[in-house]
Amino acid sequence: MVQPYKHEPFTNFKEEENREAYLKGLQTVESYLGQDYDLLIGGERISTEDKIVSINPSNKEEVVGRVSKANRELAEKAMQAAVEAFKTWRKVKPETRADVLFKAAAIIRRRKHEFSALLTKEAGKPWNEADADTAEAIDFLEYYARQILKIKDGVPVNSRPNEYNRYDYIPLGVGIIISPWNFPLAIMAGTTVAAIVAGNTVLLKPASTTPVVAAKFVEVMEEAGLPKGVLNFVPGSGAEVGDYLVDHKDTRFISFTGSRDVGLRINERASKLNEGQIWLKRVIAEMGGKDTIVVDKEADLELAATSIVASAFGFSGQKCSACSRAVVVEDVYDQVLNRVVELTNELTQGNPEDQSNYMGPVIDQGAFDKIMSYIEIGKEEGKLMTGGEGDSSKGFFIKPTVFADLAPDARLMQEEIFGPVVGFTKAKDFDHALEIANNTEYGLTGAVITQNREHIQKAREDFHVGNLYFNRGCTGAIVGYQPFGGFNMSGTDSKAGGPDYILLHMQAKTTSEMY
Ligand code: NAD
Ligand code: ALA
Repeated sequence: MVQPYKHEPFTNFKEEENREAYLKGLQTVESYLGQDYDLLIGGERISTEDKIVSINPSNKEEVVGRVSKANRELAEKAMQAAVEAFKTWRKVKPETRADVLFKAAAIIRRRKHEFSALLTKEAGKPWNEADADTAEAIDFLEYYARQILKIKDGVPVNSRPNEYNRYDYIPLGVGIIISPWNFPLAIMAGTTVAAIVAGNTVLLKPASTTPVVAAKFVEVMEEAGLPKGVLNFVPGSGAEVGDYLVDHKDTRFISFTGSRDVGLRINERASKLNEGQIWLKRVIAEMGGKDTIVVDKEADLELAATSIVASAFGFSGQKCSACSRAVVVEDVYDQVLNRVVELTNELTQGNPEDQSNYMGPVIDQGAFDKIMSYIEIGKEEGKLMTGGEGDSSKGFFIKPTVFADLAPDARLMQEEIFGPVVGFTKAKDFDHALEIANNTEYGLTGAVITQNREHIQKAREDFHVGNLYFNRGCTGAIVGYQPFGGFNMSGTDSKAGGPDYILLHMQAKTTSEMY
């Protein structure tokens, strides 16, 4: 019998045994650095001349791997493989599909520290952040496998005498999975397996900065017994392969996680009818965030400061859930701001392979330049309290940066920066703080630090975000505990790790028989 779901525990790196295990994982990764990885199409490995070269963002000289790059022709071949495989995969028993996920979870759990170390090398994740990413990938596999088992026999509906009605969920068809680099294992794996366990076949296009971890995950799914053609691996350019597949007549759904602008583009293109297409494409789009922590005057101010620092600077602020805005009621503004600056100045930064570094690099030169340009804007719009410097000579390092006294509508308080930058703004009172908190086009996460129960209730009703937290930070949702997804320009609120997530990859069929 399948045991009840429980999330994968985080590793305690204070224990020597765990530290050694992580370092061993790092050695394993080092033994295969620079290798080539193929496309996987209909079970066939295909190597191309053109490669995506994945580098270590802490050390630009180090090549993590070279991954074959699909073009339109190969994307078409992968589409045909997925169309073909759907004919049989959709009829495979849900229990068998779930078993593939359970086995994949077991394989990743056995190689947990290797996967985490690969995330350190390829995405610049510090140990605890990498460990959380790997744990979340395992959680998605374990959780979605159980979810399909729950609905495999349909959902009860009424029947009249001599009538037998059924309400069953069936898969959609071929899906395109387009994933981001910031949770290169968890989100890539979670979005892929939710689609697959529902009986669909997919083409996976991972982010171009983190394709090696995706290639390793694809190997795991093969080892776990996934039939050929169910998961096709087609890394490539968003503009070339991405657009082609989004537009394709045989694409039934697109599961995208990434930025607002790319999400909007996909949504628009997917809405156009192409020749031969006989359905409306479904779009699952999880996009950016501009997430706020509100601090009330009746609050544990130390908790407020530590929550802001952890949510703003964990993984260098490169989470859609990261706190990039602190809205603090004026009575306690200076206290919270000064404490955040003190705590920020204590943070260590450097190559995340060294466990003592709290913060690593940002992902690439493009991100480095963008964040540094926002820091310049911040200097015009507010008061730089700490940080503000970057160094991209060896890797892409930016100091954790705090700006104070920003206007609520300043660009720094409105636009997603996706880096280690947090802006402070002062509110007259709690109502004003909530008004400011809601004044962006996004609506992903938010947190309120308060000891006032009426204010908690008010925020529950009026703070318009998909994931709202009280008396804690605004990052770190756990699969099956805090289903994750946002409102407004943060996307379609398709709650990853939630009880209805796999249904987004299915359609309900009613059958009615007369006896
Ligand atoms: P991105 O939008 O640049 O890229 C995401 C994916 O889309 C990549 O695989 C990319 O190659 C692909 N892509 C680019 N152009 C495309 C096109 N024309 N057609 C199809 N695919 C295309 O985002 P990113 O930089 O990888 O990730 C960071 C962004 O993701 C941030 O905005 C962050 O907030 C967001 N994000 C959101 C969530 C969430 O759950 N809401 C989670 C993680 C990240
Ligand atoms: N699920 C991730 C978090 O909650 C993005 O931080």
